[in-house]
Amino acid sequence: VSAAEQRERLEDAGRILSGSVSPGPVLVITDANVALHWLAPLVSSLAEAGFEPSPEILEPGEASKTLSTVERLYGRLAGIGADRGSPVLGLGGGVVTDIAGFAAATWMRGIPWMAAPTTLLGMVDAAIGGKTGVNLPEGKNLVGAFHSPVRVISDPVTLSTLSPRHVRNGLAEVVKTGLVRSPALYERVREDVDGLLSLDSSAVRDVVSLSAAAKREVVLLDEREAGLRRILNLGHTTGHAIEAATGYGPVLHGEAVAVGLVTAVRLSIARGLATAELEEEVRDVLVSLGLPVRLGDLAVRPTREAMLGHLALDKKSRNGRLALVLLTGVGTPKIVEDGTAEEVLQAIPA
Ligand SMILES: NC(=O)c1ccc[n+]([C@@H]2O[C@H](COP(=O)([O-])OP(=O)(O)OC[C@H]3O[C@@H](n4cnc5c(N)ncnc54)[C@H](O)[C@@H]3O)[C@@H](O)[C@H]2O)c1
Ligand SMILES: [Zn+2]
Repeated sequence: VSAAEQRERLEDAGRILSGSVSPGPVLVITDANVALHWLAPLVSSLAEAGFEPSPEILEPGEASKTLSTVERLYGRLAGIGADRGSPVLGLGGGVVTDIAGFAAATWMRGIPWMAAPTTLLGMVDAAIGGKTGVNLPEGKNLVGAFHSPVRVISDPVTLSTLSPRHVRNGLAEVVKTGLVRSPALYERVREDVDGLLSLDSSAVRDVVSLSAAAKREVVLLDEREAGLRRILNLGHTTGHAIEAATGYGPVLHGEAVAVGLVTAVRLSIARGLATAELEEEVRDVLVSLGLPVRLGDLAVRPTREAMLGHLALDKKSRNGRLALVLLTGVGTPKIVEDGTAEEVLQAIPA
């Protein structure tokens, strides 16, 4: 059997879902971009397995991730006669899976849901770990629940319609996961950059399964983010400051995190934890993936003042000190609790 044939297939979603829940109405949540390419095969697969799929097509983008969208979904669930056993299916990127998972977590105090992520970020990050939620005007992901999907189907073929920029966006989180938890994943990425960028099915499948397994392992050891799970925030203190300082939009999350990864390694070196070779190596792999490694590489350059303001407000900060995820090497993270915003700002490559 060839690698391509072993892949998880969207066409099998109905059969797979019927292994977890009995046939009946299913609310299929997706967005307009994804619906264009991937809704029809999913709907047929569900129907063939005896389900009654009802699609709800959201406007693409982060702006849909609100309570008012979720309220509309509750209306749809009521309308299709969804009960405690009826599943929700999220077909799309992280925005769709976060909303679908949150609707499933809260409808009748929790119904099963299945994630069919169609972005690389969704496959390696958003659909794994059980976090669901929506944004408020006051901030991102402020309302949410932990509610894991009964199944995740990551079909690499769905990535064929994703923009290359969004593919690279997901690869930044892959590199992060490799750096904090999985040297094997990190090496797999380094040895097959071209395969990944051209979406070679077996390269994507390996990287998705290694990333998802590494994240699952970390989350399992620390479901509620008390300790270990924090290592997944490598590069994110800086990344969030960049996103906030550029007004959430022009710089994608993974792009901001890529600059944050280089920053984290530089912070580690400044504290005598890592060697200069690690910085060079991490920068090389990010550059080979077409990811930014300094502020000057970003579509919009954030000001130091704006980033400083956001670093000072970081939710990981305690009495003026920041918890920083650092690295002593690949696969060996170290959390320090005495970071400062100035220290971080100094380390961000211009
Ligand atoms: N719950 C978690 O643990 C977790 C983790 C990481 C990120 N997230 C969330 O994920 C979201 C970001 O996810 P994202 O980067 O996937 O963004 P997204 O869902 O907005 O998708 C990016 C863009 O790609 C389009 N798209 C998606 N799949 C496509 C496909 N196969 N073909 C063509 N177009 C496609 C979408 O319509 C959208 O325009 C954020 O809201 C973030 O908070 C959640
Ligand atoms: Zn992230």
